[in-house]
Amino acid sequence: MASVRDAILKGRTSAPVLDVIAFYAGAQEDLRFLPPRPEADRRKAAERRQSFTLHDAAGDIVAAAAVFDYGDSDPFVELSDTLVEKAYRGCGLQGLLLTLRVASVVATQGFDMGITTAVMPQNPASVRNIERAGFVKWDGALESAYESCPACPNRPASGGCCCIFYELPRVASQSMVRDLLGHGTRAVVSGKQGTLTLDLSAIRLVRDQDFRAILKEFADLP
Ligand SMILES: CC(C)(COP(=O)(O)OP(=O)(O)OC[C@H]1O[C@@H](n2cnc3c(N)ncnc32)[C@H](O)[C@@H]1OP(=O)(O)O)[C@@H](O)C(=O)NCCC(=O)NCCS
Repeated sequence: MASVRDAILKGRTSAPVLDVIAFYAGAQEDLRFLPPRPEADRRKAAERRQSFTLHDAAGDIVAAAAVFDYGDSDPFVELSDTLVEKAYRGCGLQGLLLTLRVASVVATQGFDMGITTAVMPQNPASVRNIERAGFVKWDGALESAYESCPACPNRPASGGCCCIFYELPRVASQSMVRDLLGHGTRAVVSGKQGTLTLDLSAIRLVRDQDFRAILKEFADLP
């Protein structure tokens, strides 16, 4: 019987937001690793085409991730909401979803936008991926980064935040953008559990020559 891994996953930025919300709702125990996220945030990410989803041959979402704002005018965004269905884990999808989101920030929000993320220390797989991608601890995290803490089920009894905040140095963003430019619309990712082929032709960052030119300009900055 063919494995789920033999199929080509299709990348999109235009999945219906209700399908995306249902995908997260179905994650059950994995939700403990994701901060509470208002529906309005997910809608905004989708409107900006910064809600990335990967779909199997039946069109069902098997992985998702997005870019969110902290406040209305903060010069930082947060990469968050990464969820990969269990059957597809260990094949490098989180790294690809990081790369797509970094490129989308660079191409649509400017070269100087600060790129950050937050991870729970109890999530070693994610911590390793974030650090492997070049993220470093973000000591000056904004006040607004802690806005979801009061509603967070993981809030430590002592108060404060359950996550470690990270930011991405420009040199690491450039390296990820170079990787994306190298992929083209057909990408192959791999990890300890196997290899997956992805069709990224529906993602305009990857397909569109104007976006690629912006990304190349960023990647070539000294
Ligand atoms: C964390 C997560 C996004 C990683 O996605 P992924 O695409 O599987 O990432 P990778 O392929 O790079 O694998 C990451 C690690 O998980 C390991 N792994 C493999 N299969 C696994 C499985 N079935 N379950 C959990 N981890 C698995 C991999 O071996 C790899 O280990 P390594 O860091 O030693 O190399 C995914 O496990 C997930 O959705 N978890 C639940 C939600 C979550 O934690 N989101 C991130 C919030 S910051």
